[in-house]
Amino acid sequence: MIGNTPLLAIDFEYRGRQRTIYAKAENLNLTGSIKDRMAFHTIRLAYERGSLTPGAPILEVTSGNTGISFAAIGSALGHPVTIFMPDWMSHERQQLVRAFGASIRLVSAAEGGFVGAIRLSEEIAAVTRGAFLPRQFANEDNVVAHEITTGPEIWAQLSGHAKRPPDAFVAGVGTGGTIMGVGRYLKSVHPGVVLHPVEPASSPTLSTGHKVGCHRIQGISDEFIPPIVKLDALGPVIGVHDGDAIVMAQKLAAELGLGVGISSGANFLAALDAGDRLGSDACVVTVFPDSNKKYLSTDLMREEPRRSGYAAPDVHLLRYRAINRVCDVCYDPDHPGDGPVQPTRAGRVTAA
Ligand SMILES: Cc1ncc(COP(=O)(O)O)c(C=O)c1O
Repeated sequence: MIGNTPLLAIDFEYRGRQRTIYAKAENLNLTGSIKDRMAFHTIRLAYERGSLTPGAPILEVTSGNTGISFAAIGSALGHPVTIFMPDWMSHERQQLVRAFGASIRLVSAAEGGFVGAIRLSEEIAAVTRGAFLPRQFANEDNVVAHEITTGPEIWAQLSGHAKRPPDAFVAGVGTGGTIMGVGRYLKSVHPGVVLHPVEPASSPTLSTGHKVGCHRIQGISDEFIPPIVKLDALGPVIGVHDGDAIVMAQKLAAELGLGVGISSGANFLAALDAGDRLGSDACVVTVFPDSNKKYLSTDLMREEPRRSGYAAPDVHLLRYRAINRVCDVCYDPDHPGDGPVQPTRAGRVTAA
């Protein structure tokens, strides 16, 4: 129920040329987002090291999806979970965290927003017996989760069906776990792959090094460059306008029935940009981090004005094919597995 998602090959026409972009359908994970991978592996590795013991409290700072993942997996394993979240995240996210049995501590901009939430969680953990802080922004396990699952899955699915290696991988940066982990794996098997981190054009934290402006692409660009992000290991940053990302996500839902969130629209447009840079027949891969259901109260569900310079209005979506989940033993996409992917510290994947 976590990971081993289908890879979508999405065919479309853009400014007179037919093109294809590949995207992992991460909306199909247990709680509907890519963060289930990180939460599951972080908890598993913490158990292995003894830093998390049965029944101990888990405290985490998140813009939403991570909190939902830790709440659900924590409940399943019998851990009380407290989530610290900026108070401007969508109501659906807050309600889901509570629905999965976790407590939530909203942090206002006046209390320091994201940075204030991190400070507060550390203070409370210091006086809570046995508390485990996953610290997703600084925890290398977040990178490892993608290095040993998302990356190998993309490689196996592409080699099985597209019969070609990826020329580029692009992903919006929240913690940076996805771009760093998938990037590290893909570089190890195909050093020529270009890795593009994605940020909101109106809030270019990666390019400037600090919080600037504001944006509506929830889940990415959280006010600072996370410690696990190593920009010198990555290619050029791609900026996407939040309105353009909203229009793109709306089109994916309305024209192809792919109900994905705003950062998925941003990733699609960044993949389009990466293809423009490399040549329109380049093999560009990305992820669709979550579904549109967490955005029912946001601008994703409203008419978004088309502004000049947007790319999404010129994208004519044609069709998509879902490339099989891979077998968790042999990685052959024509032989789908039926058990969870069980990573090992050595980075191999074995049957449960
Ligand atoms: C909707 C959404 N998109 C993108 C991301 C970014 O993923 P990562 O934290 O691996 O950089 C997140 C992270 O929470 C997210 O929730």
